[in-house]
Amino acid sequence: MKKVYIRTFGCQMNEYDTTKMFDVLAARYGAEPTDDPLEADVILFNTCSVREKAQEKVFHDLGRVKELKRRNPDLVIGVGGCVASQEGEAIVRRAPYVDVVFGPQTLHRLPELIEARRRQDRPQVDISFPEIEKFDALPEPRVEGASAFVSIMEGCSKYCSFCIVPYTRGEEISRPLEDVLVEVAQLAEQGVKEVTLLGQNVNAYGKDLYGRHGEGAFDFGDLIELIDRNSPGIERIRFTTNHPKDFTRKMVEQIARAEKVCEWFHLPVQSGSDSVLRRMKRSYNRKQYLRLIQWVRELIPEAVITTDIIVGFPGETEEEFRETLSLVEEVQFDAAFMFMYSERAGTPAAKMEDRLSVAEKKERLQRLMEVQNRVGRAKNEARIGKVYDVLVEGLDKGKPDVVFGRTRGNILVTFPGDASLRGQ
Ligand code: SAH
Ligand code: F3S
Repeated sequence: MKKVYIRTFGCQMNEYDTTKMFDVLAARYGAEPTDDPLEADVILFNTCSVREKAQEKVFHDLGRVKELKRRNPDLVIGVGGCVASQEGEAIVRRAPYVDVVFGPQTLHRLPELIEARRRQDRPQVDISFPEIEKFDALPEPRVEGASAFVSIMEGCSKYCSFCIVPYTRGEEISRPLEDVLVEVAQLAEQGVKEVTLLGQNVNAYGKDLYGRHGEGAFDFGDLIELIDRNSPGIERIRFTTNHPKDFTRKMVEQIARAEKVCEWFHLPVQSGSDSVLRRMKRSYNRKQYLRLIQWVRELIPEAVITTDIIVGFPGETEEEFRETLSLVEEVQFDAAFMFMYSERAGTPAAKMEDRLSVAEKKERLQRLMEVQNRVGRAKNEARIGKVYDVLVEGLDKGKPDVVFGRTRGNILVTFPGDASLRGQ
């Protein structure tokens, strides 16, 4: 087993998990990554089920590798991630040429699954949630480049009524503090300058491990402070994603004080309407969200604020939708990911009445994008003529003389330069 090809769908958590899949296969077989599925001995799909479109892509892509498997019966085909977690055995029923199916919490068992597949001559499925075992079983991270992700918690216990994540990734579990610090140190030793602390909901960090209040309590703000002070070599610390409900003023203060922590806040709001937020089970209202924005702007005036918004949630009226438009005007987000509501089987919202038609959802998305694009453009125009530190990630789409990177505020920038600037 020499070459591994992994196709990654969806979120940054999946990108992180993909690096871990490469790590386990490298540690066990000395396997190396490849960009070319045609030369791969192992082809893995790290899937996403958060919205319908992402989910459909998986079966489409699987259909394409079927032919490769026919030509090379030794080829190992695996499906991991959230679609695997949700569909389990159904994947091998629909695509019998798939050898292994594994979930976000069992990816460290990949070598065992592949070996069991060979011994037993039938597909192997393991989509259990064996708590934090994953991290104890993972080899040291190996990285290329100056940026890396570090998972600080897995899963989500928020159960927003539209969202599949708690069902596919399991409940919130924090990684012990020492493990996070060790991983950051290992990355720094390999030349990493920028780490992004990852979780579905990083602001809930530590509650399950260290309690919520009183002696021994240790939360996300404390973690940020500790990493900021104890990670020589690391120059930038980012964190994503946040849940507005768990973001306290104390955390914003700690972030403001921490020198290496970047001025970027991704604060998914989902809707500007209190009644929709209630139906979504987001557990904050518009006023509380705006208060959080105010803390951020007050303590970190240069902060870049981005968000996620869903339009066309079941029963969303024109009036409720307009409250989202007015929130976007009021907050002045630097950027937003904007989605049409997509029904996810098994979630409470899937059983709600008054579904909007695709045409209605499209129309609202269009209107929202017009407002946000105008706001975002004005924000970018206000930056013309300013000077920013940019950490260069690489060449811009294969052009030999243009590089791209990000400001501390996570704004993507391109400028003339060559490959020698990577990591600078
Ligand atoms: N943990 C993150 C979200 C993870 S999913 C949070 O706290 O918000 C990423 C984004 O996908 C969500 O913020 C939401 O905007 C969108 N999303 C999730 N489920 C969706 C659905 N059923 N339909 C449309 N968009 C959805
Ligand atoms: Fe999904 Fe809500 Fe958690 S959007 S990931 S259930 S915070």
